[in-house]
Amino acid sequence: MKPIVAPSLLAANFGNLQADIDMLNQSECDWIHIDIMDGVFVPNISFGFPVLKFVAQLSNKPLDVHLMVVQPEKFINEVKALGAYCMNVHMEACPHLHRVVQQIKDAGMKAGVTLNPSTPVMMLKDIIRDVDIVMLMSVNPGFGGQKFIEHSVEKVRELRDLIDQTDSSALIEVDGGVNCETGKRLVEAGADVLVAGSSVFKAPCPQVEIAALKNL
Ligand code: DX5
Ligand code: ZN
Repeated sequence: MKPIVAPSLLAANFGNLQADIDMLNQSECDWIHIDIMDGVFVPNISFGFPVLKFVAQLSNKPLDVHLMVVQPEKFINEVKALGAYCMNVHMEACPHLHRVVQQIKDAGMKAGVTLNPSTPVMMLKDIIRDVDIVMLMSVNPGFGGQKFIEHSVEKVRELRDLIDQTDSSALIEVDGGVNCETGKRLVEAGADVLVAGSSVFKAPCPQVEIAALKNL
């Protein structure tokens, strides 16, 4: 199975988002990954809903929305209004994760739960059957262009085992420092979805890089 490839708009040219979205629309990418930051859960701020409204209008690919914010449940209606395909919330930001997952699904979106690099896979044990996607952060969230944390490959293997043992149908997504080299090892370990920011947008030809990730 070819991986689902989700380029992260965080690494796009914010001075001309339309050009980069047009490029993604014409590429082999499957989803567009959208990083929302609040300067509280993570030490950075990216873009908010007024900008994303136009991104959603321009994109013909499903939007994979990653909320790096405290209390992400406050924004379920806004993410739904974008027409998002899935909404990823951080386990570390949700004391009542089970409720939030149900609310996202009730809103008609796929529910994703994201784990920071320091959060163990075993924390998913009692939620794994309820989620559509588990996203493992392979960098500390907040910034693009960081170095891939090697331990993430082992975490993908552990998560694949947990999913197989529990008959969960969750997809495994990995975000941070993904390029063709790390991506190949992640796919071999059992990853289904690769998020890639810098490796796509800093490539001489982003569409060629997307095709290469797709064919790992
Ligand atoms: C990091 C974001 C990522 C980021 C990945 O906080 O969640 O989606 O855009 O960027 P790269 O691929 O450059 O590590
Ligand atoms: Zn992300």
